[in-house]
Amino acid sequence: MSTETSQTIRLASVKDIPEGEGREYRVGDLFVAIFRDQGEYYAIEDYCPHAGAPLNDGPVSQGAVTCMWHGWKFSLRDGSCMNIPRGFPVRTFPLKIEGEDIYVTLPTGDAPVNDMNQES
Ligand code: FES
Repeated sequence: MSTETSQTIRLASVKDIPEGEGREYRVGDLFVAIFRDQGEYYAIEDYCPHAGAPLNDGPVSQGAVTCMWHGWKFSLRDGSCMNIPRGFPVRTFPLKIEGEDIYVTLPTGDAPVNDMNQES
């Protein structure tokens, strides 16, 4: 029986994410990268499953981000590795937009409930 639960928290404003770029947010011990590509927003774990590089500063194109360290390319939609046979996927997280706010649903096992990025 799974005991995993989740929480949905506001991480950013749409104005914080320039087109074709990503930004990193920390929630507890979890690093989350939010990307904007062709007007769509995506949330993935900001940790390359190959060797641990941050992904938020990688080049974004056609729904994918490329890791700056060794070039693994990940789908922003489902996290699959697109250019390395048997390459590990990166985790993705559900994201929704309400007004100008970006909310991401994260597993609570990895992300203590303290929204450190919440603006006051
Ligand atoms: S650390 Fe990302 S491809 Fe190697």
